[in-house]
This record gives sequence, structure tokens and C-alpha cells, in this order.
Amino acid sequence: MNFNHSAIESLRERSIVTLKKNWREGFTVPSANLYPFQWLWDSGFVSMGWSLIDKYKARLELETLFGAQWENGMIPHIIFHNDSPEKQYFPDAKFHGSEASDLSPKHVKTTGMTQPPVLGFVLEFLFENEIDKQKYLDFYRSAVKSVFRFHQYLYQNRDPKNEGLVYIRHNWESGTDNCAVWDSVWARYSAPTYDFVRKDTLHVDQSQRPTKKDYNYYMNLIELSRNCGYDEQKMYEILPFLIQDPLFNSILAKSNQCLSRLSNALDLPELSVQFDEWYAKTAHGINTKLFDDVLGQYTYFDLKNNVQISEPTAMGFAPLFAGIASEERANKMAELILSKHFLGENLDGYLCPSLGYSSSAFDPVRYWRGPIWPHINWLLAIGFKQYGFLEIAEKLRNDIIELSVKKGFYEYFSPIKSEEFKIGYGGEDFSWTAAILLLIME
Ligand code: GLC
Repeated sequence: MNFNHSAIESLRERSIVTLKKNWREGFTVPSANLYPFQWLWDSGFVSMGWSLIDKYKARLELETLFGAQWENGMIPHIIFHNDSPEKQYFPDAKFHGSEASDLSPKHVKTTGMTQPPVLGFVLEFLFENEIDKQKYLDFYRSAVKSVFRFHQYLYQNRDPKNEGLVYIRHNWESGTDNCAVWDSVWARYSAPTYDFVRKDTLHVDQSQRPTKKDYNYYMNLIELSRNCGYDEQKMYEILPFLIQDPLFNSILAKSNQCLSRLSNALDLPELSVQFDEWYAKTAHGINTKLFDDVLGQYTYFDLKNNVQISEPTAMGFAPLFAGIASEERANKMAELILSKHFLGENLDGYLCPSLGYSSSAFDPVRYWRGPIWPHINWLLAIGFKQYGFLEIAEKLRNDIIELSVKKGFYEYFSPIKSEEFKIGYGGEDFSWTAAILLLIME
């Protein structure tokens, strides 16, 4: 599909309108009804979008996020700023009960978990886009220090074997909520059945969301963590879910790399040295532990059960984004993404499905079990481009533009090109879809 100048202009306009509509006092909601608070990695991507149109909001978005940082350095995954819309959201601030930990902020409620550490590459992007860099040095110095504390928290609390790979302790920390990889973890035990009313399915059809059974596991992990007072050591000992995730760790590595450069530019050389060390350590961990030669892709490691979990996922390409895969592995991954596992039997699908067609759990409309997510395409396009796979990068980019033009600013899209899947899925007027469009049309 060719995009003429006016089509691109109207997409840009629509992106700006969407971001403005979702702006609240100091932060952007991912989607007005479905997700009425502030989410960590959404805020990161959205802030990059803002930096192209309103730099003040870009900085403020992050400042608001840092305002909810825990005393141990963790930046939480959701910040429940305003509690009136809370009634529409479940599990709410009360269920998460962040006050169970002395380390949580006193002025605002949050969840007791985090999300992919995108803030390092986000900050570098914002800084590079500043017109008057001198004027905002204080902001950037303080922001880099906050993210330093966040990464330090991850390495100190989430890498028990000193492998450079941090674990996630709730599936929501991955950002890829109902990824098929967790199925094998859930299969090992049963969660109690919780009596609760879901709010997500008021806005989005059940067929596009995680199942009720899966929600029991999600709730159970929260309850267990809350009962530990969100004490990291206790959680490590008892939680049934401890996963080393290739997307989370690649994002961490990339952020370290960007923060090393940024720290130097800000005259913070000691921080830069530490970020370099972390980058090298995580790159090494990802390369030695997470690659699956048979699949030809990076994969997940279940630390609790000491087993690798291999599924073809979009997330398994993420080490390309961090520039840590060898040429040989990059070639294998380029072959894989262009195969029927990711393009479908007739090799004519959109890229990049979150789960490969060959996985038994593949479902083209159910959230992270098949649909395409715009921010993942953005990150993979950068990755493949870095390794010289320009056509793959172009397709990842163009497919997002085409899908948004044809279907709207949705949360996710089916990878299958057919009348049956002609609509977009999940939340509408989605903030990071708008932000990503601004970034890829730049
Ligand atoms: C869903 C996504 C998660 C995102 C959140 C808000 O839970 O899986 O990645 O941060 O929505 O958009």
C-alpha cells in the first residue's frame, strides 16, 4: 500500500488529536475507558510521541511517573492517580494494596510490580530532540538518576544467580499479559477461583481478552505478593512465577546502552561506567541462556522450574533491538520472521504476530496470543534495520501504518489479511498506537 502525503498528514493529525484527548493532569491514559490510569511502559512510548509535538508534556509525563517511584527504586506498573474512575477498573488499587509495603509511596497508590524498563532509551530520545538542551540539564540529570536507581533495584533484587538476567515475578510485568509462554507455568498448579467482576469485558469483547481462568492466576500472584508485604526476598521464595523474559531483558540492555551515552553527555561519568557494565552483563546473559538453536530465536527461561520455554514470539526478536545478537543469529531470525511461522501458510500476513502461527495457542484476536502490537513493531523495525534487513524493517513499519489507516487507532490488530478480521481489536483511540505512528512517520 502506498501512502501519499495527505494520507500521512491526516494520520499525523489524528495521532495528535488522540494524544490530546487522552492527556490528563500530568500524564496520558493508555485508553480512556479500558485503562484509565498511568502505565509505566505506555508512558515511555507516549512520552516519545509527545516529544515530537509538545516537549513540556513529554517531560511532565515522565516526571509524574518518577513521582511514584518506590523507596527501593522500583517504578510501578500502574499509578492510580485519580480514584474516581477506579470503579471501572479491576483489579483496583485496593486489591493491589501497595501500602502493604513500607517502601511504597505514601501520596499515591500503585501496583506492587513493575513493567519493561523502557525509560532509558526514552530519555535519550527526548534529550536528543530537545532544542535547548542546556535549559533542561537538571531535569535530565535527575531523571537519569531515578532510572539508575530503578535498574539498580532490578539487578539487586531480580538476578539471584548473578547472570545479568533479571526475572519478572508477575505476568503483567512482561507487558505481554496473556502470552502463551505462561501456559506451562499455570499448568503446574491450580489457582483458587476468585469471585470478582471483571471490568475489561465491559469495554472489549471477551474473545479478545484473557480468559477468566487465566485471571485467577493473575489475581493469585497479586494476593501472594501482597501477603508477603511485597518483600522481594519472600516473594522470590514463594512465588510460582519467576521468568527470565527476552523482551524485558533486551529492553533493559538497550536502556543501559542509551543511558551510558546520555550520562556522559550530562557529565555523569560514574553512572555511565555502571550502565556499560550492566549492558555487557545482560547482553552476555541473554546470549548464553536464552537462544534456542532449534527454533532459531531467543526464548524464555522459567527460573522456578529450571526449564527453557520455547514458543515462536515477536518478543523473541527483541535482542536485535538491543544490538546484542550475533550476525549469524540475526540471519536465522530474519529467516524465521519471513517464514510461515510469522507470515502464515501463504506467506501473505501482516507482521509481526505476537505469537507464531505454529504455536498451538495461536489466536489471531486474543491479545498477546497472535495479534500485532504497534510498539513491538516499532522496536523490531529498529532491530532488523540495525542488522541491515531493510525490507523487513520497512514491512514492520508499513504494516502498522496500513492497519491503522484501514482499521483505526486500535490497541492490537489481527495478523491475518481477510474480511473476517477487518476490524481492529482491544481499546480504541489508543495512546501508544498514536505515539508510535508519530515516531514511524518521522
Ligand atoms: C495491557 C497491555 C500492557 C499495557 C496495558 C495498558 O495490559 O498488555 O502491556 O501496558 O494494557 O495499555
